[in-house]
Amino acid sequence: MITRIRALHRELAADDATFELVYTHCEIVWAIAEQLIRDRLLAVDADLVRAGCLAHDVGVHLLNGAAYIRHGILGEELLRERGFPAEVARFCGHHTGVGLTRDDVERQQLPLPPGDYLAETPEERLVMYADKFHSKTDPPVFLTAATFTARIRRFGDGHAARFAGMVDEYGEPDLAALAARFGHPLT
Ligand SMILES: [Fe+2]
Repeated sequence: MITRIRALHRELAADDATFELVYTHCEIVWAIAEQLIRDRLLAVDADLVRAGCLAHDVGVHLLNGAAYIRHGILGEELLRERGFPAEVARFCGHHTGVGLTRDDVERQQLPLPPGDYLAETPEERLVMYADKFHSKTDPPVFLTAATFTARIRRFGDGHAARFAGMVDEYGEPDLAALAARFGHPLT
């Protein structure tokens, strides 16, 4: 499964730099999730979480100028078409922000079909949470919980509160060692 996911990133990425940026981000999200599973003794299927972390942003390669927020549904569609199990494909469409509701889609007029895009299973929730601590900016950076909270507040206090609830539940990952290992600054 892991090999197939990596090969798909390789196949779809526009160039080597994009492959490196996106796939390294996915590996970092797994490193964060793995740390949380270990430190918090989380009762999740670790192999499924790993597949979800590595696959969650595969739709970024398919944007072709479309709004970034569409990467989730594009990735989910593609993985289903390519015969990946639905439980893996779902990570793509269910990791954005701290969970997008139908109400968010309507009120913010997001370019998505009306519906809920919430992380539902324990594995989906963990991938969504771990993803918030690293950003594929140029240069890529690790984000503390405080930095991410400041970012998400723009989308409303409800989102910031939902994230705070997850920080309470999972704890904040230790990012210093990961920042050193991957050579991305911690902001
Ligand atoms: Fe991501």
